[in-house]
Amino acid sequence: MWKDNAHIVVFFCFAIGLPLWAMEHNSFQKDGIHACVGECYTEWQASTGGVVGVMKAKAQAQAEASPEELGKAAYTGCIACHGANGEGGIGPALAGQSSAEIYDKLVQYKNGDTRGAQSALMWSQAEALSDDDMKHIAAFVAALKQ
Ligand code: HEC
Repeated sequence: MWKDNAHIVVFFCFAIGLPLWAMEHNSFQKDGIHACVGECYTEWQASTGGVVGVMKAKAQAQAEASPEELGKAAYTGCIACHGANGEGGIGPALAGQSSAEIYDKLVQYKNGDTRGAQSALMWSQAEALSDDDMKHIAAFVAALKQ
């Protein structure tokens, strides 16, 4: 008899516990797309202008960001080798160089040119950069203090 009750208790634990757990762990922000519905969505839409509003705000923030700010974001992948302040490390120091120097060197690497003994390390790095990325990074690096 007690065993039967135990089954019921276990059943209820799952029946009530699982949805509660799911609600607890439901992230309303999945991959940047608002996932809630009903009132919750209406509220969110009113406060942010909805998906279109969020995208517009993002685009505006991008458009308003200075080249240095955009460059700083694009520079994150370079920190490991060139240092957060362009002080150098595995790669040479970048701080103290003009934006034209940095840009020209990046273009050379992007073209697959050999500049130093370790240019191969930079080819794949520069390959992944757009022309705008290189301009932004150059602006960011030129603004770094030595
Ligand atoms: C895996 C390490 C590594 C990463 C990551 C890396 N670099 Fe380099 N970088 C180097 C090395 C090594 C050199 C020297 C290459 C040579 O011998 O030509 C170099 C050279 C350079 C130079 C030329 C410097 C000079 O004065 O001659 C620039 C500019 C540069 N990197 C920018 C960047 C930027 C911007 C990024 C990020 C998008 C980046 N690097 C990511 C290792 C790296």
